[in-house]
Amino acid sequence: MTRIIDGNEIADRITADLEPCLETLADAGTTPGLATVLMSDDGASETYVSMKRQACNELGIESIHHELDPDAPADALFDRIDELNGDPAVHGILVQLPLPDHVDRQAVLERIDPRKDVDGFHPENVGRLVTGTPRFKPCTPHGIQKLLEAEGVETEGADVVVVGRSNIVGKPMANLLVQKSDTGNATVTVCHSRTDDLAAKTRDADVVVAAAGVPELIDGSMLSPGTTVIDVGVNRVDADTEKGYELVGDVEFESAAEKADAITPVPGGVGPLTITMLLYNTIKAASLQAD
Ligand code: GUN
Repeated sequence: MTRIIDGNEIADRITADLEPCLETLADAGTTPGLATVLMSDDGASETYVSMKRQACNELGIESIHHELDPDAPADALFDRIDELNGDPAVHGILVQLPLPDHVDRQAVLERIDPRKDVDGFHPENVGRLVTGTPRFKPCTPHGIQKLLEAEGVETEGADVVVVGRSNIVGKPMANLLVQKSDTGNATVTVCHSRTDDLAAKTRDADVVVAAAGVPELIDGSMLSPGTTVIDVGVNRVDADTEKGYELVGDVEFESAAEKADAITPVPGGVGPLTITMLLYNTIKAASLQAD
């Protein structure tokens, strides 16, 4: 029988473990603060930010929200980041991606104080991750490590195929999994849109992490029995529903579940862990800044 991994349950357990850290900070007079910045009227981005804010409020992290008109000049965003960098009540800064085309995304990420970069996207933090001395692990790959750990999926010596090479998921995921660590020591293959024979790679995998942003790219015919399947995709596809769309992963769930040993659903798999690890990083940022 395939195990359907309950991301909400695992996320709730990790979130509960964060409460003592918050109490320690409160005793020292610190309430962690996370600033979210939204420069987009994309519905999905609005939803993600509001879920992050709600999670902060529920745990007792101060949520400070800023919205900029998507047509505003890039300098308006840089100025806002400068203000947040200098605000001692703000311990973490998250600029929701994607940004409008006229804004240089890399310049934005580099403008954030690396000590407040709870996404872990600043080059200083990317460099720390790659060299095995992470400060903030990017939230989605870190959450996937926690999922695998909670499910007892051994990464040491495992063949892990990461499908997707984004800076947000694919690349940091691969980096975390190859590190010498209890949740690393894997043999990692990174596949992408130019990979020659994707199915040949995924069929050889013990673990597949699907993060390509392509609806139902991976189906059961591309998997060997016993694989652990982690689906990072959250794709809105047109459907005859109240909202006019439905959420579909990068994995074709029904056929993949027939082959997989364990599989994450969409929604309710990886997503809750991403939010939990953002809370974790915000608390870590506040602790580092209190030292
Ligand atoms: N857009 C999609 N995923 C993410 C994320 O993890 N962080 C930010 N800032 N934007 C995103």
